[in-house]
Amino acid sequence: MRIIENLEEMRETAGELAIGGQSSGLVPTMGALHDGHASLLRRSAAENDVNIISIFVNPAQFMPGEDYESYPRTWDADLEAAEAAGVDIVFHPSAEDMYPPRAQTSVVVHALTRGLCGMSRGQGHFRGVTTVVAKLFNLVRPTRAYFGQKDAQQAVVIQRMVIDLNFPVEIIVCPIVREADGLALSSRNRNLPPEHRQRALALREALTLGRKLVRGGETDVSALTYAMGQHILRDNDIELDYLEIVSPETLEAVDKLDDLALIAGAVKIGGVRLIDNILVGPTGPWED
Ligand code: PAJ
Repeated sequence: MRIIENLEEMRETAGELAIGGQSSGLVPTMGALHDGHASLLRRSAAENDVNIISIFVNPAQFMPGEDYESYPRTWDADLEAAEAAGVDIVFHPSAEDMYPPRAQTSVVVHALTRGLCGMSRGQGHFRGVTTVVAKLFNLVRPTRAYFGQKDAQQAVVIQRMVIDLNFPVEIIVCPIVREADGLALSSRNRNLPPEHRQRALALREALTLGRKLVRGGETDVSALTYAMGQHILRDNDIELDYLEIVSPETLEAVDKLDDLALIAGAVKIGGVRLIDNILVGPTGPWED
């Protein structure tokens, strides 16, 4: 496994892969790797000649007051996890190289970033995400890039950016990997105080409650949102950031569940922000 920290070296290596006709898969990450990341990496290894992970805690996507400083950084364990998941190249640029002092260009996807996490974190969050992912695509020039359904809005936004800016990359969205009790794996789970671990399940429970109600015939979005919200808010130690039922393509609110919909939510527990989502329609899916 090769580690590349230099931007030029990454760009040259990408060029060599292209000349050699080798396909490459890129899994962009911010490190603190867990089995969710590993599932993306394994899929990338299976589908490409060369498997590349980027590990970069991207300052541009953290808003003021967010957890950039306390975001978990577990470099040695990440290298082991990457190796075990069949990574060939670890691209690990520095913030100074990625954002030199005179940088002033960014990529903005408009309407899709207004709601959900764009509303609660500020649209600057997604501007940071799309800008860094565009830069990674230009440096690595992957054939395919892998993203998790865990960050459903991010996946839709990246897909839109790739279409709108004609990036020659195929975006592949992979299912959410969960703990045995249903908690979605997240790097931020490491920062969750142990006394709050059980509490963190409330969002997942609310989402599966929503799915159960839909299965029972409920199609009214305000009734569903109310029931799910109640489940979360009965615990005073959970702050509900948002809980919304939207179209999985446009991310716009729907008022009847007559087609496939995305139920997405974010909560804050013990100072840690967690997100999760579920896809559900009048005829399922009932499992995930
Ligand atoms: P990060 O949070 O490290 O996540 C990297 C990728 O792993 C994302 O595509 C995310 O959706 C996926 N992922 C995280 N948890 C997952 C889970 N439980 N199951 C499946 N996939 C999961 O998302 C980012 O980093 C950044 O915004 C990034 C795209 C790297 C840009 O900086």
